[in-house]
Amino acid sequence: MKFHILTLFPEMVQHGLATSILGRAAEKNLISIDAVNIRDYTQDKHGKVDDYTYGGGAGMLMQAQPVYDAYRAVAGEKKIRCVYLTPQGEPFTQKKAKELSGEEELVLLCGHYEGIDERVLEEVVTDYISIGDYVLTGGELAAMVVVDAVARLVPEVLNNDESAETESFHNDLLEYPQYSRPENWHGKKVPEVLLSGNHKKISAWRREQSERRTEERRPDLYAKYQEKQRVIKKLSA
Ligand code: ADE
Repeated sequence: MKFHILTLFPEMVQHGLATSILGRAAEKNLISIDAVNIRDYTQDKHGKVDDYTYGGGAGMLMQAQPVYDAYRAVAGEKKIRCVYLTPQGEPFTQKKAKELSGEEELVLLCGHYEGIDERVLEEVVTDYISIGDYVLTGGELAAMVVVDAVARLVPEVLNNDESAETESFHNDLLEYPQYSRPENWHGKKVPEVLLSGNHKKISAWRREQSERRTEERRPDLYAKYQEKQRVIKKLSA
């Protein structure tokens, strides 16, 4: 899968995404990530990409022309799905990450200053995404979050040990607690059942722990989970 990140700060995203699992995936050509400098596409002879807003108000706005030309340079005549990172977007979820991982190519558009001229957003953006109810100084960190969450769902990016099957949000539950050696650390012992070798019992224990943890930390998710369980019970009755 190809990711194109349109940004005024390419160095910010280029390095951050080139290590660890995503770095390995890029080396294996499972994914590619290119950062495109929007400033390279300005027609302004001083390299300007922003201007004052019509109607007044504080701050500068990124202009339509350089953003549009940067998108066209990446997409050509094709229509590539384009995510604009903004606190005004739909909240980003694992479900959305899964949906986007089905694309062959994805453009991520990062705003700065007070945002981007609405007219170019109307022409190129297909998805508005927020990574949470807080305001960042720009879209780059949000784009990196989206690329990371989507790229790890691309087939073969994770190996078996890193499998996405049992992790948090699978079945609407948070992941159960996990333990490694030693068996006793700071006087805290690994739960007995995990040493039993009884896989049925271990699965049941993990399920229960997942439910308990979700209820405690994410009551909103837990309510959704309970509702789904009710429907499943009803259908199988
Ligand atoms: N840009 C600034 N804040 C953001 C947020 N919370 N999510 C996505 N993009 C942003």
